[in-house]
Amino acid sequence: MSIAHHIRNALQHASMIRRVADEGIKMRQDGQGSVFDLSLGNPLIEPPPAFYESMKQLLARGKTGLHRYMPNNGYPETRAAIAAWLRTDLDLPFTGQHVFLSVGAAGGINTLFKALLGPSEEVIFFAPYFVEYGFYTSNHGGLPVIVETNDEFQIDAESLRKAVTEKTRIVMINTPNNPTGVVYTAESLRNISEVLRDASTRYGRPIYLLNDTPYRRMVYDEYVDAQAPDPMHFYEHTIIATSFSKDLAIPGERIGYVAFSPQIEDIQEIDEAMAFCARILGFVNAPAWMQHLLPSLLDTQVDMSWYAKKRQRLLSFLRLTGYTCTTPKGAFYIYPKAPGGDDMAFYQELKRHRVLVVPGSGFGRAGYFRIAYCMNDETIDGALPAFAKAYETLHKPE
Ligand SMILES: Cc1ncc(COP(=O)(O)O)c(C=O)c1O
Repeated sequence: MSIAHHIRNALQHASMIRRVADEGIKMRQDGQGSVFDLSLGNPLIEPPPAFYESMKQLLARGKTGLHRYMPNNGYPETRAAIAAWLRTDLDLPFTGQHVFLSVGAAGGINTLFKALLGPSEEVIFFAPYFVEYGFYTSNHGGLPVIVETNDEFQIDAESLRKAVTEKTRIVMINTPNNPTGVVYTAESLRNISEVLRDASTRYGRPIYLLNDTPYRRMVYDEYVDAQAPDPMHFYEHTIIATSFSKDLAIPGERIGYVAFSPQIEDIQEIDEAMAFCARILGFVNAPAWMQHLLPSLLDTQVDMSWYAKKRQRLLSFLRLTGYTCTTPKGAFYIYPKAPGGDDMAFYQELKRHRVLVVPGSGFGRAGYFRIAYCMNDETIDGALPAFAKAYETLHKPE
């Protein structure tokens, strides 16, 4: 069977994360011992008990009609519940119309791109980045433009300013970040908002700031509040795409939402466009069952101490061994420098010891590697000796 040329092309460049995960599947079957796979952001933690409790309560109510089509942008009561939650969280006047229920963050981003992007309009995102962004952009005829972050993975105004053109439609950030775990500082967010405000005035139409933020509620205690500022408080044309994949540990259930800043104009038209695009993309609506559960789960999330302990264990070990790591403030990834500087060589060396991580080249910044520590302790502890050996083999004394 012959597949489309551009898809064959895309497959060749497709996610390094998936390729590493496939490698893991092969290795687990090769009969040569355990594999310590730290490659995939698929949390092993179970959803919180409240998730199952809500399901039981919903079933016990014995209501009928729970599984039918609903308006394409979601049940009005679910939209209203999320809007009320956001009003408290962000102190901005959200209504249900500002909230669109989506098939995960990924479904939300694709629906939004379909609704906003004209042919060859540009979407800017920052390296290192979640690699699907390029594909999401080209899915809808857009052109990806990649801007580098600084050594701390924060955003510099000048680099962004140089990349913005009259064709820029969306600037996309991801805080807390995959793959680095960093949370954008107020300075980064101020830099972005100043550049975008200037450019929006210059070109006579808003450039939207999209915060892809499935890890939004996964900030470590010591960084919540002042150290984890929200982009909505910096820039009026901000949109959030988020999900419950990570903070409720239910990525397979495919539930999330897009929220538009109440300061964005034309919300009525955007709302209609989102509903239409969800329909013609074939999502039609976000899963009904999950939408029924959400209103009772908005204040529930997985226990962050499960992640905090793993983060601390890995950071202490890696730093003691000699690795250079930026401290992750949210999410469940660490993005250290590859000893010796060649992330592919480092990946191969770790693989020899049956440990899998994702090389930084897969995120558009070579010379680093990503550890996903959403795994059990046995996998993490089992991988530590290999990190020590690979460091010993590859690092070059200064
Ligand atoms: C940065 C980022 N964006 C989007 C997604 C997709 O999330 P969802 O499962 O909600 O579609 C992920 C999943 O790993 C992610 O890490």
